[in-house]
Order: sequence, then structure tokens, then C-alpha cells
Amino acid sequence: MMGSVGSRRFLCVLLSILSLVCLSSGFTPVDNYLIDCGSLTNTTVGNRVFVADNSASNFLSTPKNTFANASISVTSGDDSPLYQTARIFDGTSKYTFLINQPGRHWIRLYFYPFVSGSYDMSNASFGVSTLNHAFLSNFSVKASVVKEFSVNVTSKNLVITITPSGNSFAFLNALEVVSVPDELITDDAETFNPVGRFKGLSWQALETVHRVNMGGPTVSFENDTLGRTWVPDQSFLIQKNLAISVSNVAAVKYVDGGATQDSAPNAVYGTASRMNSDNNPSSNFNVTWEFNVQPGFQYLVRFHFCDIVSRNLNELYFDVYIDSWLVAENVDPSSVANTLAVAFYMDFVTAATVSNKLRVSIGPTNTISSAYPNAILNGLEIMKMNNSLGSLSGTAPAVSNSSSKKNVGVIAGLSIGALILAVLAGIFIMFCRKRRRLARQGHSKTWIPFSISGGNSHTMGSKYSNGTATSLGYNLRYRIPFVAVQEATNSFDESWVIGIGGFGKVYRGVLNDGTKVAVKRGNPRSQQGLAEFQTEIEMLSQFRHRHLVSLIGYCDEKNEMILIYEYMENGTLKSHLYGSGSPSLSWKDRLEICIGAARGLHYLHTGYAKAVIHRDVKSANILLDENLMAKVADFGLSKTGPEIDQTHVSTAVKGSFGYLDPEYFRRQQLTEKSDVYSFGVVLLEVLCARPVIDPSLPREMVNLAEWAMKWQKRGQLEQIIDAALVGKIRPDSLRKFGETAEKCLADFGVDRPSMGDILWNLEYALQLQAAVLPGDPEENSTNMIGELSPQINNFSHSDDSVSATQFEASSVDGLSGVSMSRVFSQLVKSEGR
Ligand SMILES: *[C@@H]1O[C@H](CO)[C@@H](O)[C@H](O)[C@H]1NC(C)=O
Ligand SMILES: *[C@@H]1O[C@H](CO)[C@@H](O)[C@H](O)[C@H]1NC(C)=O
Ligand SMILES: *[C@@H]1O[C@H](CO)[C@@H](O)[C@H](O)[C@H]1NC(C)=O
Ligand SMILES: *[C@@H]1O[C@H](CO)[C@@H](O)[C@H](O)[C@H]1NC(C)=O
Ligand SMILES: *[C@@H]1O[C@H](CO)[C@@H](O)[C@H](O)[C@H]1NC(C)=O
Ligand SMILES: *[C@@H]1O[C@H](CO)[C@@H](O)[C@H](O)[C@H]1NC(C)=O
Ligand SMILES: *[C@@H]1O[C@H](CO)[C@@H](O)[C@H](O)[C@H]1NC(C)=O
Ligand SMILES: *[C@@H]1O[C@H](CO)[C@@H](O)[C@H](O)[C@H]1NC(C)=O
Repeated sequence: MMGSVGSRRFLCVLLSILSLVCLSSGFTPVDNYLIDCGSLTNTTVGNRVFVADNSASNFLSTPKNTFANASISVTSGDDSPLYQTARIFDGTSKYTFLINQPGRHWIRLYFYPFVSGSYDMSNASFGVSTLNHAFLSNFSVKASVVKEFSVNVTSKNLVITITPSGNSFAFLNALEVVSVPDELITDDAETFNPVGRFKGLSWQALETVHRVNMGGPTVSFENDTLGRTWVPDQSFLIQKNLAISVSNVAAVKYVDGGATQDSAPNAVYGTASRMNSDNNPSSNFNVTWEFNVQPGFQYLVRFHFCDIVSRNLNELYFDVYIDSWLVAENVDPSSVANTLAVAFYMDFVTAATVSNKLRVSIGPTNTISSAYPNAILNGLEIMKMNNSLGSLSGTAPAVSNSSSKKNVGVIAGLSIGALILAVLAGIFIMFCRKRRRLARQGHSKTWIPFSISGGNSHTMGSKYSNGTATSLGYNLRYRIPFVAVQEATNSFDESWVIGIGGFGKVYRGVLNDGTKVAVKRGNPRSQQGLAEFQTEIEMLSQFRHRHLVSLIGYCDEKNEMILIYEYMENGTLKSHLYGSGSPSLSWKDRLEICIGAARGLHYLHTGYAKAVIHRDVKSANILLDENLMAKVADFGLSKTGPEIDQTHVSTAVKGSFGYLDPEYFRRQQLTEKSDVYSFGVVLLEVLCARPVIDPSLPREMVNLAEWAMKWQKRGQLEQIIDAALVGKIRPDSLRKFGETAEKCLADFGVDRPSMGDILWNLEYALQLQAAVLPGDPEENSTNMIGELSPQINNFSHSDDSVSATQFEASSVDGLSGVSMSRVFSQLVKSEGR
């Protein structure tokens, strides 16, 4: 349902920044036949009236009318009034319904076997079919059950045939034929075995075999706009203790472009089962549910998600499996519409199952080293698809009276058929992928964000491959019309300029929904500027993190190069340090800002196997929001790290004077340790509140890094700190901070710590500043270290994996997930531009 309009909608979402539309269903089925079989009176169930069988008998042709009434009053279950009576069929019988609106229809059959006169309904055996599809064959029932099917009816009449097997008979307690909204089941879905797309769902007859509300109670048909029933998941969980139920029904948002209330009600989206990882931040397990299925059939599996657990965007990343297949990787539910608690779903079509169990698992991502392990699932539907004979049942009615010999033939035919189908599907998929590469936008399904964050091996178009780069290919969804930008900035009002840089001017602006933005308008196109413009869009549209400035959109109309970002109320870190007259920041604030920026950089460096190097880390590129939360900005120069391409030697040394890694300068070889060096300079800037290069000072003081390191090596760093901080920094905190900066500035990259290490040490410096031990006003670091884990003082370990583990284990809370993606392969490709 979102497929065809995905990109258009996404832009609307961007422009109206989530003016959330609560799509209350309002769906009224055009065709709505509800029959209480065997009953002489109309029966009301919830708000629906099932008409008496005699009023319905004009739909039915049957050799003999036999009504049955349970001798005792049936009380079990929501549907009990319907189970009180039944109709018995002694021969082939047909219900014929006039279809007023073609399209998918539910066909729900209610069965409750009881004994009436000479009929023991649990002995009944029969088939139910339509012209094209067999729903049930040789079917018998031992306990009450509702069978739900859906078919796309394109003819004027729908004929449902009930055929008793052999000498047996058939029965039915109630019957529904009801229109389904067209958007509910679209024509295609992802496949994972092999990876591709399944087309032709509109022709499938489907049987709902499981419809589950994760982490919540039964949601009955009364609370579902389409009269569906959702059952709790507990009995399907393989290990109940691995999952926790969570609930926040009020939080659920239905956004334009996401799921609607017809997809699933908020009672379903508002509860979830999540990983029970609370007590162990290094948890690494899957939560798995197991469902009975019938081998030999394909299934449409629909996962319903809604992030009701995160407190911040980009906190939750997880993988989703069907059996042992990774079907969606690094799912970040907050990226669907850049807000939490948005309801959405993903559809997958399985290959014909061989087992009689289908397992569904969710688990932490393994490619993101520092994401807190968690995973959620809110709802799940498993729908059986008809086989190549059009049947949803083990034995198709056409061959049900055949000899065993014939049956073997059918089975063999089936598997050969399946094989041919698989091969055809494979060819089809390869063909589709090729086409999709050319035209991928606008065809993305519900899960636009995931195709960006990898998972299914989608290939993205290489927009730089031809070197001309006139259009920005797959980032179209961020494109904002020039008129909207003009309007937002009062036609680039000069008095709205908040900054001027090498790239051009930065304006503040307000989108028409009131969102404050910063609008960076590039100078007229130069090849150089264009490359940076593109890098920036590419980086920011793919890496979303709490500590990276978010891109809201861009505009490349009329040769413009305009980038629109979230507005950062408090401007640059630099402006708070010196030169602008801003009130000076406390040491704690400064540490927190450094920690935030370090997180952003850590995400860039380690979020994925291949590092992204910012290349222009400086205090002017660290922005502060209204709460002084730091976000790293300006990705125009970013590049992927050397692991990708060992031979890469950058052609031009770029970056900002005073922050530049001397090793990079010498060897022109870029690693993430160049960012570490620059970050070390920022740390000193934060501590000393002076420009990194100040030519007005005596010679030995001009370069902040050199000057500060002189004092640090003498152990007297406190001599040169910001006057506003004198006497306000605890000595241990300063010592830790100074050591950290010193390590960052090591001559050789290999000797510098990783951003993860730095983060850890800054957090430690913050704790040293903040902690006041009771009865110990005199600062005593030994005591404090005793409180913390013993490893934390060990700064100089060189094994990054060890440090990463320590880091994860100890400051999990602050780590707002790290998502990286296969986008990098894309970046590598674009390297040659
Ligand atoms: C079925 O039997 C019950 C009592 O056993 C009676 O109250 C009810 O009216 C009967 N319903 C029909 C449709 O015959
Ligand atoms: C049952 O409802 C139908 C349609 O709503 C109506 O035409 C019929 O008269 C009702 N039958 C009885 C027995 O109330
Ligand atoms: C139903 O089946 C059972 C055994 O399967 C048999 O004992 C019983 O007589 C059957 N009842 C009827 C009414 O045919
Ligand atoms: C129907 O099922 C019964 C057992 O439930 C079996 O004995 C019988 O052979 C089946 N009939 C056909 C036609 O498959
Ligand atoms: C039903 O089938 C028709 C004919 O192929 C198709 O045009 C229509 O989109 C289908 N409807 C649904 C809801 O799948
Ligand atoms: C279902 O709706 C009823 C009222 O219509 C309400 O009392 C009940 O709490 C709802 N159940 C759920 C699971 O939402
Ligand atoms: C989760 O399940 C998948 C599929 O069975 C498996 O490959 C993966 O290793 C599991 N992860 C964990 C942490 O057990
Ligand atoms: C399901 O039945 C339709 C005919 O209605 C057929 O075209 C389709 O191929 C069948 N599906 C599968 C998976 O065989």
C-alpha cells in the first residue's frame, strides 16, 4: 500500500514534518454478508448482525435443509452465540453471493462441532472451495475454530461450494463474506530465499494461519477495524524468559506513509515482546517464536513493528529472521518517519516450507558494535498461500478421489512445479533487480529506510558512476522544492543569515509546518563544491544518529546547492568558547559536549566494519541544540576509511589549519586517527578557550596544540586553562582529560586511542568531576576507582576489541545505537569520482 506512493509520501512527511494523521479506518465493507447458519433468528455479535439462516437461504442451494441446535447453551468464546446453531449438509451445496465491489474478500467459516440427533459433527468430513481455489478438503473439526481465507474476487458472483467427503456430511455454524480494503494486501512482497520480490499476491488465495499480538492480550474482532482476532504470543515463544512484554498503546502513531489502523489496530502496535537484555548489556540471543505450518506451502509473513521502547531516535537496531534466514538487517524503526512509535509493517514471502514448523526470530544486530542489544516485535501474521493447483489444502479436491498412484504423481508434479517456479522466480528476480537499479525510487515498500540501511541485498544505483552527477539519484526523497526553501528563509533574507563559511551562507528558516531549520546555500556550482554537496547529502541521509546533525532535505533545482538541516539553537561549540561573548560553559557542560561529539565520531568510525572519516573535526563543526547537546556537523569532506581501499592515497590534504593531523599531512594517508588528532585539538580548545592558531600571540603560543602539550608534558596543564575554569575542575578530572588529549595528539596514528577509548576516558573524567563520595570531601581517586570497574584506569591497551567491550559494558545507557549500512559499498564505488 505504500509502495507506489513511497517517495512522494516521504517528501510530504518531510515537508509537513510529521503532521501526524491519525487514520481512523472509516472502512465500510461494500460487500458484507454475515450468516448465522441454522439459526431462526438474527444474532448480534459485537456490533455486527449475523442474519438468520432462513433469510439467507436465497444464497444457498442444497439438496436438503437440516438445521441443528445445540441442546445445551454454548457459552465458550466470543463467538459463542454463533455456535449455538449449525446447518448440516448431506450433499454438495453452494452459497452464491453477489459481489458488488471486486477485490479481496474475507471468507470466514465458523465451526463448532456438537451432536444433534444422529449427527455428531466431529465425525463430519468435507471440502470447501470456490471455482479457483480449494480452501479445505476432507476437513474435520474436533473443537471450535474459525477459518479465515481471503481471495480477490473479480467476477460478479462468488460461489462457495461445500462438498461432503464420501458418505460423510458437512456442517457450518456461521459464514462471512466481507470486502477487504484494497491496500491491505498489495501485489508484491520481499522474498529472501532467494532474495527478490514476489509478484502476484493479488491472485493468491490466502489463509490466515496465525495472527498474533506480541506482548499483549487477545485483541478481539470488536477492537479491530476489519473484524480480525489477534491472539497473545506467549504460547508460541520457544523460551519465554528471553522476552519481556511491553505496552504503550497511547503512544502509537499512524503516519502518512506508514501502516494504518486497518493494517493492525493500536492495541496490537501498542504492545510488543522485546529482548530481555536488561540485566546484561552484552546480551546476544534471539527471541524466537515457533508456529505450526503445513509443509509444501508458501507463506506470506507480515511483521508489525512500532518502536514503543526507545526514548530516543536511532536507539534500537535489530535483525529479523524467518527460520535461519536473515530477512531484515539493522532495522531501525525510528527511521521510518524519523519519530518514535510509528506503526509500520514488512511483508515477506517464504519459499515452500519443508518443515511443519516456521520460526520467526528477532535479535540484536551484530554489525553495529555499540548498539544496545534489544529487539522488538509487535505483531505477526502468517498467511498460507495457495499452491500451484490453487489449493490451500493438503489434497486438492480435483484429485481427492484419485488412487494413491495418482497422488504420487501429484506430489511429484508439485515439487517439480515448485522447482520450476523457483527457477523462474530466480530469473525474474535477477531481471527485476537490474531494473530496480535503474528505477528504485518510488517502488520501495513499507520499509524504505531499511533498504537504505542494508539488510536485503538491494543494490543502489551508483549516482556518481558516470561522473556527471547532475541528479542525486536515490536521495530524491530528501529533495525539497526551491519555492519551499525560499518561503522558509523569507527569500534568503540577509538579516536571517546565521553563518558564513567556505561553502556559502547559512540562513535560519522555518518550514511551513513551523519546524526551525538551518539552510546552507552553496555558492554557485563549482565542481569542488558539488562533490562536497553530494558527499554531505549522502552521508547525512544515511547516517542518522543523535550526535550527528540531521539533514532535513536538500534542493538542487536551478543549479542551487542548498542543504537544510535541523536547527541547532545554540550554534557552534566554538562560539561558546571564545570570541562571541557567550557566557562561559561549566566544566561539566564542556565534558558532556565533548562526550556527545565523541559519540557522533565513534559512530562514524565504528558503526560499521568500514570507518567513515569526517576529515574536518573542529569546534566550529560541533553544534549545540537547545539543551547543549552536541552534534557533529559538516560532512562535506567525509571519506570512508582505509580498510576499504588499502591503496587509497588522497590526492589533496583537506581539513582545517590547526586541527590537521601532521601524519596525514606528511604521508597523505587518511585514517580515522586523523579525526582523533583533530578531536584532541578540540579538547584543548575546550579546556583553554582560545583559538587553535592565534598569530597575535608570542611565537611559542601561536599553535594551541604545541603550546598545551608543552605544559601537559610538564604536568602543569592547569597553568593555561580557561580563566573561567580556574579552581572549578577537580584535579583528577583535569588529569584524565589532559592525558586523553595528549594521547589523541600522539605523533603516530597507531599510538592514538580510538574514539571509543576517548569516549570512555571522557566519561571517566566526567565521573571524576561529578562524584562526591560521602564523608570524603577531600578528593581521593583511589577510593573512586574502587567504585568503578578496575579496568577503567588502563588507558593504554592497544587492543581495540577489548576496549570496545569495556566501553559497551559500562556506558551502555548513553549509547544511542549506531547504524551503518551497506551504503559503504556505495561510497567506495563513488571514490573514483
Ligand atoms: C436453540 O435452542 C435454544 C434452547 O436450547 C433456544 O432457546 C433457541 O431459540 C434455539 N434456537 C434456534 C435458532 O432454534
Ligand atoms: C434479520 O436481518 C435482516 C437484515 O438485517 C432482515 O431483513 C430480517 O428481517 C431479520 N430477520 C429476523 C428474523 O429478524
Ligand atoms: C462418530 O465416530 C465415532 C468413532 O470415530 C463412532 O464411534 C460414532 O458412532 C460416530 N458417530 C456417528 C453419529 O456416526
Ligand atoms: C479423509 O480423511 C480420513 C481420515 O481423517 C481418511 O481416512 C480418508 O481416507 C480421507 N479421504 C480422502 C478422500 O482423502
Ligand atoms: C484483484 O485482481 C484484479 C485483476 O487482476 C486486480 O486488478 C486488482 O488489483 C486485484 N485486487 C486486489 C485487492 O488485489
Ligand atoms: C476492546 O474493546 C473493549 C470495548 O469495546 C474494551 O473494553 C477492551 O478493553 C478492548 N480490548 C483491547 C484489548 O483493546
Ligand atoms: C539468531 O538466529 C539466526 C537464525 O537462526 C542465527 O543465524 C543467529 O546466529 C542467531 N543469533 C543469535 C545471537 O543466536
Ligand atoms: C494460486 O492460485 C492462482 C490461481 O488462482 C495461481 O495463478 C497461482 O500461481 C497460485 N499460487 C501459487 C504459489 O502456486
